Amino acid sequence: MTWLITGGAGYIGAHVVRDMLASDRHVVVLDDLSTGRADRLPAGVPLVKADVSNRRAVRRALAEHEITGVMHFAARKQVGESVDRPLYYWSQNIGGLQVLLEEMADAGINQMVFSSSAAVYGQPDLTPGATGISSSGRITENAPCAPINPYGATKLSGEWMVASTARANAWHAISLRYFNVAGAATPELGDPAALNLIPMMLEALQHDRRPKVFGDDYPTPDGSCVRDYIHVADLSAAHVAAARLVEISHQAELLRAAGDRVQDAALRAESAAARLPGGSAAVEAAATVPARAIERMPAAARAVELAAQRIPGAIRATSGPGGRRGQAGDLVAEVAAQLGSMVARVAGVEDAPRLDHHVAVNIGTGRGYSVFEVVESLRRSMGREFAVDIEDRRPGDPPALIADPALAHALLGWRARRTLADMTDSAW
Ligand code: WQD
Repeated sequence: MTWLITGGAGYIGAHVVRDMLASDRHVVVLDDLSTGRADRLPAGVPLVKADVSNRRAVRRALAEHEITGVMHFAARKQVGESVDRPLYYWSQNIGGLQVLLEEMADAGINQMVFSSSAAVYGQPDLTPGATGISSSGRITENAPCAPINPYGATKLSGEWMVASTARANAWHAISLRYFNVAGAATPELGDPAALNLIPMMLEALQHDRRPKVFGDDYPTPDGSCVRDYIHVADLSAAHVAAARLVEISHQAELLRAAGDRVQDAALRAESAAARLPGGSAAVEAAATVPARAIERMPAAARAVELAAQRIPGAIRATSGPGGRRGQAGDLVAEVAAQLGSMVARVAGVEDAPRLDHHVAVNIGTGRGYSVFEVVESLRRSMGREFAVDIEDRRPGDPPALIADPALAHALLGWRARRTLADMTDSAW
């Protein structure tokens, strides 16, 4: 499995690159290094320095590296900038994605993980029981999507582009809707841009300024906004889980679809094999392989077909000297053994989840923290007190946004493990 990771030299992408490597997958990074940095990549990871809208570069990368799946991070992500320069966001986030999807379709690549955002929800009505809102006020994936800025709109449109392409071409794709990402797995992988709460506060302190709290009069327990902060290392693990699900779902579908072909081929091989010296014993051995498992194996289909093609030659060989008769028997025995090992390899296919061609999944902890709680955690991480300035509310900030991570757990078997203290410690 080789995954192309666009934006793999960025803050989140570089974490995912490491975790994908640790999961024994090959990765190739495509990044224009506009905000990413090559030195974030571990040695030996191929880097294609190009914008994702560079069709030739994308095409070449997909072909040269025999890419089987794509994780797409390369995008612009500043909400304020997207309000000022909407067309830049549409061209970067949607233009680039269109090129990527077209080239994937051309290359027959059918597995994808798309980097989306909780920004697709905009300012949801969080009343428990409202559409898509859990009884505890958490946002499920069924909440209405109504982005309130161009950045969120490009993420939602991106999901739609991926979903419709996935349906039309029978791909498997997952969009991950990140809540508020923070922290770092290792110091050199920290977020270099001071665009979100924790890095902005750290930057202010570094320059001896007081961090700002935007609003203390929200209808929340302490008056400051509540967000679902998710450690980037947990987020990264969710991507590996998503890649695994996409791969398994794809393989399972191939296996399920291969039933008839496998059965026909197996019958042909069986009757040919049974006529060979030593063949009956091999057929008996093959028969101990559970039939339902064989039906679900395209790899087995190919092996049996191949054997069936070779067997007529083997039959002729049986009229020759005794040694060659033995070879024919060995051949059949070998096929039976291969079948056995393939069954072992695909064991568990029946338990594989059936994934729609596209699904969007929240990635958050399910636990909210207020700005004041983040401030307190930062103070503990730094081991010192600091004062903050209370400012007016920032326009467009909803009081609370907390993910319902139930689908992520059910589908990906994933759950956030790290705490707010882990995030502020590592960011510091
Ligand atoms: C968090 C809270 C602020 C700075 C944005 C995007 C979202 C996603 C993550 C990319 C808010 C408060 C902040 C400060 C503060 N982006 N705050 N003082 O706005 O929840 O989400 O980033 O994918 O789509 O909308 O994140 O980190 O800006 O703010 O009090 O100096 O911290 O008001 O309540 P936000 P944020």
